[in-house]
Amino acid sequence: MQPEFWKSRWSEGKIGFHEGTPNHFLTRHAGRIADRRRVLVPLCGKAEDLAFLAAHDHEVIGIELVEDAVRAFFTEHGATPTIVRRGPVAIYTADAITIIAGDLFTVTEADVGAIDVIYDRAAIIALPPELRARYVEHLHTLVPARTTSLLITLEYPQDQHAGPPFSVPEAEVRELFSSAELIDERPATGPVANAGLAAIERCYLATVG
Ligand SMILES: C[S@@+](CC[C@H](N)C(=O)[O-])C[C@H]1O[C@@H](n2cnc3c(N)ncnc32)[C@H](O)[C@@H]1O
Repeated sequence: MQPEFWKSRWSEGKIGFHEGTPNHFLTRHAGRIADRRRVLVPLCGKAEDLAFLAAHDHEVIGIELVEDAVRAFFTEHGATPTIVRRGPVAIYTADAITIIAGDLFTVTEADVGAIDVIYDRAAIIALPPELRARYVEHLHTLVPARTTSLLITLEYPQDQHAGPPFSVPEAEVRELFSSAELIDERPATGPVANAGLAAIERCYLATVG
């Protein structure tokens, strides 16, 4: 999707992906990543997951294209971030939460710092098929080899609905990541399920690189 697509989604308030509470799989499986301190959250929106992770002793580094969404996160949490502009990105930080406002594909290892684990909810499934391999390759440049991702995907008959969110089948997850352990699944809730499609959410521990 072009940046304008996401900018208009946010400016028009069409953010059906925003859960408003910590994600079901994250709350169930947070223990699996508890010992990994610095969490990278690509395409983070203003997810409550950021605050949940920080409350569970993680240092959180989100990346979000739409700066208004980044501002909204801090405003809604009563925090006043410091803002550092560096090249194409603006780095917002308050306490244990940093959100890098900018295009993921322009973010560098120097911007994110040391990363111990990735949390991906509605990130890879927000990307069209032709961008997904590039997304995983770019993550690879940001994190050490064999970094774990707590990865949440959605599967549904793609020919019955135009994404985003896109269906990312298990076979594709296994192609994109060097390993993937399916740890949980459930019938999906949210916009795709509301459209009457049989959809399933899957949660993996996947390895990048
Ligand atoms: C489907 S939403 C998911 C947001 C969040 N993960 C959540 O669970 O609520 C995808 C988000 O990715 C952002 N986004 C899309 N393309 C991006 C890119 N290239 N770089 C950074 N953020 C991007 C969008 O603005 C949007 O907020």
